Amino acid sequence: MRPQPDFIHEFVPGKSRRTLLLLHGTGGNERDLIPLGQELDPNASLLSPRGKALENGRPRFFRRLSEGVFDLEDLKTRTHELADFVVSAAEHYKIDPKEIVAVGYSNGANIAASMLLLRPEVLSAAILFRAMVPLVPERKPNLSSARVWIGAGSDDRIIPASSTKELVGMLRDASADVTIRFFQSGHELTSDDVDLAREWLTRSVD
Ligand code: MLT
Repeated sequence: MRPQPDFIHEFVPGKSRRTLLLLHGTGGNERDLIPLGQELDPNASLLSPRGKALENGRPRFFRRLSEGVFDLEDLKTRTHELADFVVSAAEHYKIDPKEIVAVGYSNGANIAASMLLLRPEVLSAAILFRAMVPLVPERKPNLSSARVWIGAGSDDRIIPASSTKELVGMLRDASADVTIRFFQSGHELTSDDVDLAREWLTRSVD
């Protein structure tokens, strides 16, 4: 029996207790971020689902009405569905549910941020590359045991810096330990992002 609710996904068992939950960007799939996960932590298990919302045939984790304008009802439903998948995959693959670190890029970073806000118990930490405010939760979550690293591009035309900063404020207001780094780049991921995120993961989460 596969983890329910079902997602097409890859699972790569690791040698440590940590699992990286890899969440791809728009048009990606479950294989995209496996090399990134291995670069960030070669010992971690990797759990990498494929988003189910299709935009012109391109997988995403939730629907949007236009660029940067999200279908909030769909986002909420899909955030809970993904969180339920992670909980059931942890049981299925016998991974430690207290050591799950989301690693999301772009649309994947946005659903990871939404999971932090709506299902704070599921993730112990998150690395968010190019994230913005996904939604404003009705109730403030308690993120006092969550650590979050955010990598933003100062010339990103898709994710406004103001929205990334607003997300940092929301997470800190919910007591999360947040580190934000701005890079001189656009929406694309750079090797500096990966190097600093890996350093942070080794230093502050180990
Ligand atoms: C989103 O839709 O989550 C953001 O606009 C990033 C993206 O283009 O996927």
